Amino acid sequence: MTLIDKTFVEVFGQTPSVIAAAPGRVNLIGEHIDYSDGFVLPFAISDRTYAAIRIRDDRKIRIASVQRRHKIVEVNLDSVTPNYIGEWERYPLSVVWALEIAQGLDIMIDGNVPLGAGLSSSAALECSVATALNHLFSLGHSLEDLARLTQKGENDFVGVPCGIMDQSVSLMAHVGSALLLDCRDLTTKNVDFDVASHGLELLIIDTQAHHSLTDGGYAERRASCESTTRKIGISTLRDLTLNQLHASRDLLTETEFIRVRHAVTEMSRVLQAVEALENKDFHLLGQLLNQSHASLRDDYTVSCPELNVAVEAALSAGALGARMVGGGFGGSAIALIEARNTADTISSIETAFVNSNFKAPRFFTSLPSQGAEIIMRA
Ligand code: GLA
Repeated sequence: MTLIDKTFVEVFGQTPSVIAAAPGRVNLIGEHIDYSDGFVLPFAISDRTYAAIRIRDDRKIRIASVQRRHKIVEVNLDSVTPNYIGEWERYPLSVVWALEIAQGLDIMIDGNVPLGAGLSSSAALECSVATALNHLFSLGHSLEDLARLTQKGENDFVGVPCGIMDQSVSLMAHVGSALLLDCRDLTTKNVDFDVASHGLELLIIDTQAHHSLTDGGYAERRASCESTTRKIGISTLRDLTLNQLHASRDLLTETEFIRVRHAVTEMSRVLQAVEALENKDFHLLGQLLNQSHASLRDDYTVSCPELNVAVEAALSAGALGARMVGGGFGGSAIALIEARNTADTISSIETAFVNSNFKAPRFFTSLPSQGAEIIMRA
């Protein structure tokens, strides 16, 4: 439960007009292909971020959070431009900017999506604010519009070159299902993801290793994909087969070749994973997770020692499959395990981290949860 409405009154002296919630995500499979128009298969986790908002009758935006209740950030709407320099409030402000809101607001945020764990706490924050504003101003944006607008805010206002996956799943996910998202046109299909009734569990391992998409590694990967499409003369990697990639090898640098090999093979793994889930073939799903990890580690080179140790330790403890998730360079891994092995798997990973002198990891599990929703309207 959130205390957001009480804190809103304490801090802003009035009640909020709307409260919206939006979840973080894990990505089952389909990594680093959202910006190449690929298919991805994420699901929303139960942890969510809440945004409570009230319209003001001036041009002030005041933002606070339950976690930092005494620190109100106050900004005039005229300063809400991509030149804005600030801290975490850049994320809610990016949404105010992208949705072209022209009135002052009081905004209170509360959230329990783990920060910096690669579970898309930023998308959860953006989508909670976007959902609340869409309702409050009767903007009538579809979920697809909101995904594109929040992505635009993150790209152009915050300056993070993310793709469309995280915002889409935070907005569009359904309880009990992974979301097959076609990043070309944002069409979706819900794919039943009920591992529990098969005695399985999806363990989320937060390696606590730092990751930042602004460090340049993410942009560099995107650039390799884009230069390849230019050299081969296609508009997107979605249109490329593995055979065509091999046939074009001489046009490409070795780095471009292996990056794009990841993208092309990962796109086909996503569709195979959907089939595996539809057939309840969790062993095949596990193998696809392993292949995805190897490809991200060796071809896309976005893994890191902590993620590799987490994956290897989970597999040694009997996991059906495991892989890094999200942008990489730290953050979280997932492991598909027998539910009865959860404690043993956790302890094997903990031991492996101690032996490698890594910071202690954190563990979560989550069933696929609902996407963004309005939870209170005045
Ligand atoms: C981050 C980005 C997403 C996606 C993943 C990698 O989470 O925000 O758009 O590119 O990395 O799959």
